[in-house]
Amino acid sequence: MSGFEKIEGLDRENVAHTYGRFSVAIKEGKGAVCYDFDGKRYIDFSSGIGVNSLGFCDEGWVSAVTAQLNKLQHISNLYYTEPCAKAAELLCKKSGMKKVFFSNSGAESNEGAIKCARKYSFTKYGENRNKVITLINSFHGRTVTTLAATGQDVFHKYFFPFTEGFEFAPANDYDALYSMVDDSTCAVMMELIQGEGGVMPLDKAFVKKVEALCKEKDIILIIDEVQTGVGRTGKLFAYQNYDITPDIVTTAKGIGGGLPLGCVLFGEKTEDTFAPGDHATTFGGNPVATAGAAHILERLDEDFLNEVKAKGKYITKKLLKMPGVVGVDGMGLMLGVRLSDGIVATDIVKKTISYGALTLTAKTKLRLLPPLTISYEEIDEGLEAIRKALEE
Ligand SMILES: Cc1ncc(COP(=O)(O)O)c(C=O)c1O
Repeated sequence: MSGFEKIEGLDRENVAHTYGRFSVAIKEGKGAVCYDFDGKRYIDFSSGIGVNSLGFCDEGWVSAVTAQLNKLQHISNLYYTEPCAKAAELLCKKSGMKKVFFSNSGAESNEGAIKCARKYSFTKYGENRNKVITLINSFHGRTVTTLAATGQDVFHKYFFPFTEGFEFAPANDYDALYSMVDDSTCAVMMELIQGEGGVMPLDKAFVKKVEALCKEKDIILIIDEVQTGVGRTGKLFAYQNYDITPDIVTTAKGIGGGLPLGCVLFGEKTEDTFAPGDHATTFGGNPVATAGAAHILERLDEDFLNEVKAKGKYITKKLLKMPGVVGVDGMGLMLGVRLSDGIVATDIVKKTISYGALTLTAKTKLRLLPPLTISYEEIDEGLEAIRKALEE
């Protein structure tokens, strides 16, 4: 029995079948390269779905995390810790947001954001102002409330009753969104590039108008940066590409660099909305995860972020010359490749695995979320696997 067969058998028998996995078990990795149990090499264009910002086992990140692990792995939020305070300071300084609540995942961050928006509105306007408008084709998570917030019918089954108070507006249709706003609206929540929805960037004009409307009506603007945050689009946060000031920003994935960590960032309006006892989580702000986050944030300077943009452009240019590629959407290193009719994205992912690259899908597109530190040589090697898969 091969190493893979043994793992696959154990997993099939003992792990709940909630994931459709590809037939690969990854043993180890460094940077943007990883190996399976037969020693086969893969270029990673997935970064664990946008998580491994600095790639596999980045030396600086590993040092920051292990140094903290050797000092203090956890102490409850009843006490202060240095890494938590430091990561929060860096997040506020670099984003202009005012306060941070640390959670453990994207869905949990969005739950915190929704709770905060509702409390803000309750305190100022009373209990009937609680509606949250999100966008059709959005994705905000898998908890009962974030499924309710997700604007895709396919997620609204089995788990009834869902949390009330969500309505869905079509993306990039300001008039439609405007017509849904009424006295009961407390928040608008949206991704600036719908990730799971197919790497669909929102129009800047639409986003700016929604921001202005929210300001005018004292509606909390929540930007879900779970996938777009932490350098992915070539800015620390995607909202900085859109020139807006959200009231709440959520993030997760890339901030943890491989450890579970999420954040809710509060702006001027919302920084004092939560009082002690309103919101909490046992693992939130864990010193090991936040020591890693502080290291990532320190690395993401202007030069680093400009490189992310340059690599995104380089990949896009090369992809557009490949057979079967109709277009490339996205920003920085968050790319969705539109494929010709008849090409099934999942088939391409399977083929790229056989040619030595890990890629993703987003709806009908091939999705690339490489580690932000990927080198040009690694990009070329991974793109070669994609080219072969498309030519097959
Ligand atoms: C935009 C967005 N929001 C929320 C989530 C949920 O994050 P998590 O899986 O960490 O709960 C995701 C995950 O893909 C996401 O892309």
